[in-house]
Amino acid sequence: MKLTFDRSFLVLGLTYGILGMALGIYMAATRDHSQLVTHAHLMLVGFLLSVIYALIHRLWLEQPRRWLARIQFAAHHLGTVMMVTGLYLLYGGHQTHETLEPLLASASIIVLVAMLLIAVMVISPVRSALPAAESRITAGS
Ligand code: HEM
Repeated sequence: MKLTFDRSFLVLGLTYGILGMALGIYMAATRDHSQLVTHAHLMLVGFLLSVIYALIHRLWLEQPRRWLARIQFAAHHLGTVMMVTGLYLLYGGHQTHETLEPLLASASIIVLVAMLLIAVMVISPVRSALPAAESRITAGS
């Protein structure tokens, strides 16, 4: 199985979705909704946003600049894991807001940076799919 950016986003997005739904079912079964915010962020930032990024890669980013795509991918997943972990600890009452503030603040900024980077990748011109072939044709004609 070739690990392209779209497939990697999809696989991790589905993983967040499974975890988020399991948490939702746990909340419903125990009638303890204290992790509502964690569930919502797992589903929306984790699942939904990752699937949207997978679709963007599939539909609009044929040949993204690899270094930029790698940074964007890492930022989105790092930010998501930091955010969900921080929210889980906060709403589970394991840590105070003061303790978690640096983690949650940086997580939000990292998730935002990932969104800005994908915007740059969509807006900036796509590298030519066949630069070598094109230059051969130009040189030979
Ligand atoms: C197995 C499927 C799911 C279960 C069992 C489930 C369960 C729950 C529960 C128990 C709550 C708390 C409701 C409350 O206390 O007011 C909740 C809230 C929420 N869920 Fe889910 N959920 C599921 C799927 C999803 C999906 C697919 C999404 C989005 C992609 C989602 C997004 C949200 C959001 C945004 C909230 C917060 C709603 C609010 O604050 O009013 N959930 N869910």
